[in-house]
Amino acid sequence: MTSIFHRSLAHDYPVAVSGAGLVIRDAAGRAYLDASGGAAVSCLGHSHPDVLAAMHAQLDSLAYAHTSFFTTAVAEELAATLVADAPAGMGHVYFLSGGSEAIETALKMARQYFVEIGQPQRRHFIGRRQSYHGNTLGALAIGHNAARRVQYAPLLIEAHHVSPAYDYRGRSPGETPEAYGARLAAELAGEIDRLGPDSVIAFVAETVGGATCGAITAPPGYFCAVREICDRHGILLILDEVMCGMGRTGTLHACEQEGVAPDLMTIAKGLGGGFAPIGAVLVADRVFAAFDRGSKLFQHGHTYLGHALACAAGLAVQKVIKRDGLLANVQAQGAHLTRRLGERFGNHHHVGDIRGRGLFQAVELVADRDSKASFDPALKLHARIKAEAMARGLMVYPSGGTADGTRGDHVLLAPPFIATAADIDAIVERLGEAVDAAIDAAA
Ligand SMILES: Cc1ncc(COP(=O)(O)O)c(C=O)c1O
Repeated sequence: MTSIFHRSLAHDYPVAVSGAGLVIRDAAGRAYLDASGGAAVSCLGHSHPDVLAAMHAQLDSLAYAHTSFFTTAVAEELAATLVADAPAGMGHVYFLSGGSEAIETALKMARQYFVEIGQPQRRHFIGRRQSYHGNTLGALAIGHNAARRVQYAPLLIEAHHVSPAYDYRGRSPGETPEAYGARLAAELAGEIDRLGPDSVIAFVAETVGGATCGAITAPPGYFCAVREICDRHGILLILDEVMCGMGRTGTLHACEQEGVAPDLMTIAKGLGGGFAPIGAVLVADRVFAAFDRGSKLFQHGHTYLGHALACAAGLAVQKVIKRDGLLANVQAQGAHLTRRLGERFGNHHHVGDIRGRGLFQAVELVADRDSKASFDPALKLHARIKAEAMARGLMVYPSGGTADGTRGDHVLLAPPFIATAADIDAIVERLGEAVDAAIDAAA
């Protein structure tokens, strides 16, 4: 019996009672190796002592003070830290309580920016198909996860979508990655022309696609071309790094590896590592300056933004990552994960693609490698893999609809940054067993 309106009413959830390092234990004493950080959240694993100590200390002085009355030292320090480590020219931070709130905030901030600078006619957002930006209505509108979106379609604000950067299925035979990137950028430019360049507010993209498609990375040159197109038309570039950011791909921000800086960047999951709900928008100086020179009031706000306890968690997580050199470990263990996935799945009849960066990688399952045909969606292969993995004490993040919103399955891996080579070996071994068992059962 439960009084919780759970995510799925058809599922019995084990009761999580404790966590340490990469392992969560349930009330029945079973241990689960967390290979997905939940949903790419738990970057320091569970119960990290330094984060707990910082949170206890904050709790002993002040848990919360509403931001319409006060600022706090801990929020100021976290903001200063984030700005110091942000791409050049991103000098301010707006705090939120999670990823969807961060995206809603970025959309509204972008719109008000144009009102502040006297371009109120701008009203269009362009996102990408097969993206995910969160479950609130604005985030669903700009995102394109078919299953999460379809029943709310009549409520969603107008948004426009161009092709994702999805090398495995999007790049034509014989096309170089560079030519593919140029083709995608040209499609964006065409969409901007179609809408009218001075009517577009922003282009919104996950720097590395996560929840909908599974760790899809952009072809070389794509984001530089996108940045140039946005600049040419005075359009803002919003990069959503809620999932792929804060170290997950081996650099603090995924966009560092693309050689671009956005105008607004959303971050969340790895910011607080799951120790407390926290998200943020990093804001470029020219956007901030428009508000500062203009109304001086961003017409927005939430009750819990800048929550002191959440900021203490975020600050402690970021300090540990730096102190312990964990980005280097993400790079090293990411390379190990790539190797091990290649060994285990490289010749697997039903794995069409292995992709990703750092500790953010995915395998895409196919019925047939040559044709890239997906499994019948009715088989719900992704759900079977999740169940088989849990039965083996492994947490992974599989999803369906990978290929086109309806067809396709992938498994996303996002282990904590503290993972060792032995952890990675155990993850790949158990995943291999779970995938084989799920495919056998589905056959
Ligand atoms: C890229 C991206 N943006 C936004 C969100 C929404 O974040 P939240 O679930 O914290 O609202 C997610 C969640 O998976 C995400 O992956």
